[in-house]
Amino acid sequence: MEQKSEEVMLQISKVFTPFVPISKIELLKGRKKEISRFKEILNLPGRQAILYGDRALGKSSIARIVKNIAEEQDYVVTIVFCFRNDTYSLISKRILEEAEVDSAPHTDTSSKETTIGSSIGAKGGIKFIAEASGELDGKVIMGSSQSAQYQPNYDDPSWVAKALAKEPTGKRRLIILEEYDRVEDDDTHDKIAEMVKLLSDEQSYGCKLLIVGVAKTSNELLGAHGSLPGRALTKVKVKRVDDTAIGTIFLDGMAKLGCEIARPMPILGKSSHNEETLLETVVGKCSGYPLYAHLIGQECAKIALGTDGGKRITFPVLRKALESCVELDEEEIVDQFNDIIESSRGKKSKSQKMLVMFAASRCNQDKFTIEDVAKQVEKLLKHDFYSNRFKGLAISQQLSHSIFRSLMKTTKNHKALFCHIKRTYYAFDDPRMACYVSMIIDQPLAKWQELLQ
Ligand SMILES: Nc1ncnc2c1ncn2[C@@H]1O[C@H](COP(=O)(O)OP(=O)(O)OP(=O)(O)O)[C@@H](O)[C@H]1O
Ligand SMILES: [Mg+2]
Repeated sequence: MEQKSEEVMLQISKVFTPFVPISKIELLKGRKKEISRFKEILNLPGRQAILYGDRALGKSSIARIVKNIAEEQDYVVTIVFCFRNDTYSLISKRILEEAEVDSAPHTDTSSKETTIGSSIGAKGGIKFIAEASGELDGKVIMGSSQSAQYQPNYDDPSWVAKALAKEPTGKRRLIILEEYDRVEDDDTHDKIAEMVKLLSDEQSYGCKLLIVGVAKTSNELLGAHGSLPGRALTKVKVKRVDDTAIGTIFLDGMAKLGCEIARPMPILGKSSHNEETLLETVVGKCSGYPLYAHLIGQECAKIALGTDGGKRITFPVLRKALESCVELDEEEIVDQFNDIIESSRGKKSKSQKMLVMFAASRCNQDKFTIEDVAKQVEKLLKHDFYSNRFKGLAISQQLSHSIFRSLMKTTKNHKALFCHIKRTYYAFDDPRMACYVSMIIDQPLAKWQELLQ
C-alpha cells in the first residue's frame, strides 16, 4: 500500500513540478515568442541578453531551454548562480571555475604568445597574444628564472573577457548568470555592464552572457546606476502566460496521470462555481502563473489518485486541493499575507483588508486604479458566495480607498502589498499574492472564520 502511494507520488512529481524549473521544451507552455527571440540572439554575433520579470514567472525555465538549444548549436553552456554579497571578482572567479577555464598562465619563451590556461578542464586551451608592449592583463611578473608568478585579475572585466574567449575547438560559450537579482553591489553592476560591452566584440571573444533575475525593469536588475550597453544587449521581459497555456499545463498533466476532469455541472443550488467550469476556475486562480497550474494540479492529482479519489477531478477535489495549496505556497507570500492579516486589529478590519485584497486580485492583472478595486468590492458583495464570507460588511468607496492606501504602506514587518505603477495605476508588488488570496477565499467557511479571528 505504502509502496503504491510512493509510486503515485513519484508519478505526480514527474508531471507537476511547482518548484522545479522546466527543462524540456515540450513542457514549456506559452513561451514560443521568448524562445524564438533567444534563437535569434544565439545567432546574432556579439549579442548579449538579459532575462527579467516578476518572481516565479518562469525565467529559469526559459533559461534551461535556452541552454539546451544553445548546446544543440555547439555552444558550451555554463550556468552560474549569484549570491547576496557577491562582488564582481567573486562572480568572475566562479564563472571561470564552473566553466572549467584554467586561468593560470603558461608562458612560451620561444614566441611572444602567452596562454591563459593550458586547458578548459579537459577541453583545450585558451590563447591570446601578448600585446606589443608585452604588458598582460592577467599580470605576469617575471622572476629572474623567467618563471611566471601569476595573479589572476578577477576584478578586471577585460581580463575576464579574455579568459573566457572562444574555445580552441571553435565552440562558442554561453554563460548564464542566474539569480543576478541577489547582487546588490553597484561596482559589480558597473563591471558586469562593462563585460557585456567587451563581449559584444564577437570576433575577439565569441562568448555570450545571459543575465537572469527578478526585476520589474532591466535597469533595476543591473542596478540603478548601471549604464546598460543598449546596442549590445537584448532585453527579454518575462510576463505571465496566457490562459490557454495555463489550461494546457493542467490538462496535459492530468491526461498523463490518467485523471479525468469533471464535466461542467448543471446549475445546482448556490455555489460560487456555478457559472464556471472546473478548468476555468483553475485558470482563474493562476492569474497567468504556470507555478500555480503545477501546484493546483499536483494537489488535485494527489487527492484524485489517492485511495478513494477515483481518478476524477471534481469541484470537491479542487476545493480540498486548494486547502493544501495555501499551505504549500512559497513562504515569502504566506508570511507577507499573515503579517498583513495579523497586523489588523479585530475581525472586521481583517475582513475589510481581505475583501480589498481579493477585489484587487479580480482586477486587471497588470494594473488597476483604486476605483477599479472599489467597483469590484461592490460587485463581490452582491455575490452570495462572497457575501457569505464577508457577512455584514459594507465598505463605502471612501473606506475602500483608505484600506487600499493602508495596504500601500510598508511596515516594519512587511513590504507594501500594492505598488504604484504610474499616474493613478497600481499593482500587486508581488503578483503571486493575487493567486494566494484567490486560493484563500475558497477555503471552507470554518477555516476562513478561523483565519479572521
Ligand atoms: N512556460 C511554462 N510552462 C510550464 N511550466 C512552467 C513554465 N514556466 C514556469 N513553469 C513552472 O513554474 C514554476 C516556476 O518556474 P521558474 O522556476 O522557471 O520561475 P522563475 O521565474 O525562475 O522563479 P524565481 O523568480 O523564483 O527564480 C516551475 O514549477 C516551473 O516548472
Ligand atoms: Mg529562477
